[in-house]
Amino acid sequence: MTASEPAQYAVFGQPVAHSLSPRIHNAFARQLGIALEYRPIESSAEGFAAALKKFADLGGAGANVTLPLKQVAAKACASLSDRARRADSVNTLSRSGDGWHGDSTDGVGLIRDITSRHRLFVRGRRTLLLGAGGAARAVAFALLDAGVPELTIANRTPERADALADAIGQPKRVHTRYWDDLGNWGAFDLLINATSAGHGGAALSLPSSLLAPRAVCYDLSYGKAAFGFLAWARSVGAEHALDGLGMLIEQAAEAFELWHGQRPDTDALYAELRAYVPGNAED
Ligand code: ATR
Repeated sequence: MTASEPAQYAVFGQPVAHSLSPRIHNAFARQLGIALEYRPIESSAEGFAAALKKFADLGGAGANVTLPLKQVAAKACASLSDRARRADSVNTLSRSGDGWHGDSTDGVGLIRDITSRHRLFVRGRRTLLLGAGGAARAVAFALLDAGVPELTIANRTPERADALADAIGQPKRVHTRYWDDLGNWGAFDLLINATSAGHGGAALSLPSSLLAPRAVCYDLSYGKAAFGFLAWARSVGAEHALDGLGMLIEQAAEAFELWHGQRPDTDALYAELRAYVPGNAED
């Protein structure tokens, strides 16, 4: 890279071709008059270290990672922020000397979307977290910080839910449940789908007994991947059924500020993307 070329940024994932992150970061850059290039790079978990090295050799300054790379990315970093270390999940990498510094902006993105954009409270809501992968780990800590009194974690592979609960280390507040025992979990005020099931077209089969009156259901995905969970949420009477488009934009704004030192406005971009990403009937 020469001094006249714009700084290079990328999002790594699999699949990543349809990611909205390039569009979001390019829109923020235009808004704030910052020159950069941001592109998608397809990478498997196995190929991530080599792909990241190649990107660094070509002058890469920063990167986001999406599924299924958030825990792999944490291992690839030379240093981690406190929130990335405790979650063992990284979605934002910044070049630091010869290595990378990893951070996790998913949790703050979720909380900002729920509380600032949708003007709903998190504090006091008994919460069910479905999934225990990289995205789930990042949001679990943020939900506890935001004041959920009880967090129940359920994952198809129970060992990963147990590992997350152990990492959090608050046994009075955080419980795990077996996926096969869904009907006996009780009722929740906030249900978060952090599984990637929708990306593979798989439908989660969930009982209506999971919803307390006036429950909020939130899928960390957006677009087609969120359809199944949100359709279920509406059909069983959730007061709000929200997709993760707003979280995507908010986590990107946080990453953008880490890289460029300026915070973009997100409302106009949310309205623009919402117009063609169907999801929240209430928007
Ligand atoms: P991400 O970075 O998006 O969290 P990930 O780390 O690959 O991606 O995690 C994917 C999550 O979705 C996991 O919790 C996974 O469950 P397993 O740990 O059992 O693999 C969950 N998941 C994926 N497909 C699923 C399905 N069909 N039903 C239920 N859970 C599923």
